[in-house]
Amino acid sequence: MSDAQLKHIAATHTTPCYAYDTALLQRTLEAIRAEAAHDRWHVHYAIKANPHPVILQQIARAGLGADCVSGGEVAAALQAGFRAGSIVLAGVGKTDAEIEQAIGEEIGMMNVESREELCVIEQIAARMGKKARVSLRINPDVDAHTHAHITTGRAENKFGVDAADMVTLARKTAESPHLTFTGLHFHIGSQLLMMDDFRALCLRINELQGELAAAGLFAPNINVGGGLGIDYEQPLKHPVADFRAYFATFANNLTLLPGQHLHFELGRAVVAQMGTLLTRVLYVKQGSTKQFAIVDAGMTELIRPALYGALHRIDNLSSEGRPAGKYDVVGPICESSDTFARDYVLPTTQRGDILAIRSAGAYGMAMASTYNCRPLPEAYLF
Ligand code: LLP
Repeated sequence: MSDAQLKHIAATHTTPCYAYDTALLQRTLEAIRAEAAHDRWHVHYAIKANPHPVILQQIARAGLGADCVSGGEVAAALQAGFRAGSIVLAGVGKTDAEIEQAIGEEIGMMNVESREELCVIEQIAARMGKKARVSLRINPDVDAHTHAHITTGRAENKFGVDAADMVTLARKTAESPHLTFTGLHFHIGSQLLMMDDFRALCLRINELQGELAAAGLFAPNINVGGGLGIDYEQPLKHPVADFRAYFATFANNLTLLPGQHLHFELGRAVVAQMGTLLTRVLYVKQGSTKQFAIVDAGMTELIRPALYGALHRIDNLSSEGRPAGKYDVVGPICESSDTFARDYVLPTTQRGDILAIRSAGAYGMAMASTYNCRPLPEAYLF
């Protein structure tokens, strides 16, 4: 979608609003299809990144499965046309109702995150007279070089079961009349750009597979989670993530056993670059040491900068030919963390200008809130 189109959308709709570029999403889905075209490889879309129903339909049509973390996401996935068998459900705190729903809908697998949860699933399946399909989420204790809030594969994180307990729990699952052991699940973190981190995960999985085999157990599915990062600094130069390098890392480093299926759960890399948050400049305020561009979007529409110190590229779509200035780009919310960027170089910015906050398709609208009694923004698809 061109900047002229984005400017037109902002001019004809209430701001702040999201604009989603479905043609770019399609290109991204085609790149995934091309790079992940292996027998027994399955890519699931992590719905948490962006659950817009039309986006979900487009992704389901492209043949991806769904990765869910709540009963609400499972329902959204089914509604959008994802096959139940292509749905996986993760989460450290699944409720009894969510477990019943997963068993009742016969989804592909539940990723179990603790011994305690495994026992509850077994009881619920027994009560329902059904077999629950469960994979064990293993905490691989692999460091992912990313923000502390979104690293998940270290021993100190709350996710997954200890690798030391893997064989015992896999055996318990395989031997239970109420459970089917569907395999192993991993996820080390999000916004990962160094393929060496994924390589480390592969090598760790190879080791764990050896332990499982030595105990006479077989994991039909290996799920390596998600986490592939995108270029937040130069989104226009790299609108499609480096799927080639990502998938090649697994092809080259992970040893799959005969008959084993490999699963991926990508969120951000599928949808981040197709989304732009459009916002209007309300005031340019001259502070004593700084200039502030106060815009009509805030942490309510896009919380990533406030929560993770995340950088999103910002472009002024209205300022052609003006000389540069430096601005703190801030929202209207009553918190200092409501800041999109500090000392950010933009062309001279004025009241009424339209700013494009890029790479906002993932974890943007999905994390929006009504704090300060603000309405949720609209999202428009083009
Ligand atoms: N699988 C599991 C088990 C996950 O926990 C996640 C993300 C994914 C897959 C998808 O990860 P992705 O491919 O999108 O990196 N709100 C944060 C990101 C939180 C990610 C949580 N888990 C952000 O805005 O950066």
